[in-house]
Amino acid sequence: MNITIFGSGYVGLVTGACLAEVGNDVICMDIDESKISRLKKGEIPIYEPGLENMVRENQEAGRLQFTTDTKKAVDHGLFQFIAVGTPPDEDGSADLQYVVAVAKSIAGSMDEYRVIVDKSTVPVGTADKVRSVIEKTLAERDRSIEFDVVSNPEFLKEGAAIDDFMKPDRIVIGTDNPRTAELLKALYAPFNRSHDRVISMDIRSAELTKYAANAMLATKISFMNELANLAEKLDADIEHVRNGIGSDSRIGYSFIYPGCGYGGSCFPKDVKALERTAKEVGYHAELLNAVENVNLRQKHRLFEKISNHYKNNVKGKVFALWGLAFKPNTDDMRDAPSRVLLESLIQEGASVQAYDPEAMEEAHRIYNNQAGFSLCETPAETLDQADALVIVTEWKQFRSPDFDQVRAQLKDKVIFDGRNMYEPQFVRQFGLQYYAIGRPV
Ligand SMILES: NC(=O)c1ccc[n+]([C@@H]2O[C@H](COP(=O)([O-])OP(=O)(O)OC[C@H]3O[C@@H](n4cnc5c(N)ncnc54)[C@H](O)[C@@H]3O)[C@@H](O)[C@H]2O)c1
Repeated sequence: MNITIFGSGYVGLVTGACLAEVGNDVICMDIDESKISRLKKGEIPIYEPGLENMVRENQEAGRLQFTTDTKKAVDHGLFQFIAVGTPPDEDGSADLQYVVAVAKSIAGSMDEYRVIVDKSTVPVGTADKVRSVIEKTLAERDRSIEFDVVSNPEFLKEGAAIDDFMKPDRIVIGTDNPRTAELLKALYAPFNRSHDRVISMDIRSAELTKYAANAMLATKISFMNELANLAEKLDADIEHVRNGIGSDSRIGYSFIYPGCGYGGSCFPKDVKALERTAKEVGYHAELLNAVENVNLRQKHRLFEKISNHYKNNVKGKVFALWGLAFKPNTDDMRDAPSRVLLESLIQEGASVQAYDPEAMEEAHRIYNNQAGFSLCETPAETLDQADALVIVTEWKQFRSPDFDQVRAQLKDKVIFDGRNMYEPQFVRQFGLQYYAIGRPV
């Protein structure tokens, strides 16, 4: 099948590569010329395990092309995927300007029937908006061409995106037209072989399903963080509590890890956007509001712990920072808890020496020339002349450090762990002070 994808970011690029991998003919279109020229040369602008090889192989096989040419893109695909960003607007609602721009581009160039597939995370009612933008643009061109708009939200996780796309838990197809549903089912058939994963529904429910999934996961995290803060006050250990409740099959172990808050490009903005959607229809979403506020507070917990330890004076202190990405296996630092922490430390006169296995380029881009911030080549190098170690992202390579070396290098012999990576008694055996989240000091 011929497929066009608008937007070559995390979602667009993964979608394009995976659809090409199963034999389709895919064109990825982006307005970012430097991104497209890098992609044409086989350079992948983001880190996602397995993506680089998949893109290169499909490019070489002629099934995956990149372009900035709208007309070429629209002429190519029966399916026109929208996978552009939907960042938060000033009031927290999803900013739909990029989605609307793509709808206009498609309508401005299309000459025959097209299926417009919305993969971006968009508020309920966006498909109607896309449809009316296309109708209006076609009318301006004095053209009457048939088209359909489908909601097909994406549930991939950064860091495991290829696997999630190739073996999805579910494929949500929101459409009111049975013929379009069949076209989409045929498109997804290669990813739907062992059992039927397609869940068909109306468009508005499909749009809401994506927000519901992210809001539910964010709620689990904020709930555990709330309990972790309470455990600290009650002298209980949240890790015992986590095991105690995770073993309940109604609750389960996933997404109940306490920590220094959730970040990334999705949860924070999607919870906010859903809250905003609720407000627009006159409903006060109390729980969503609390989920967001607990998270904002949690992102400051590590700094509070550090500040308490140093009696509100971190001026002149040097902190080794392990982990910058908002979670392991990605280079994405959007809304990452590391940013709140390092900016607070620097603002209070401390300096930060950071390392991340994948997010160094991104950190360099964001904090280029930031006084008090430097990047190190290895975790060990961050410890050089440092007073304390802070861990913000639970990368595998931080799981079993050489604690003797850590103790020898740190001037103040103290670790602040925002991801509960270690057993407190074990770390303390090495003569290190150890602060975690929700665990007794
Ligand atoms: N990142 C994730 O893990 C994830 C998971 C599921 C859903 N989503 C949703 O998918 C959407 C895309 O997210 P992302 O992380 O891939 O974003 P991204 O910022 O990585 O990529 C968006 C891309 O769209 C391009 N773009 C903007 N306007 C364009 C236009 N008019 N024509 C063509 N390209 C254009 C940008 O240049 C950019 O390359 C968002 O709505 C997001 O909420 C993201």
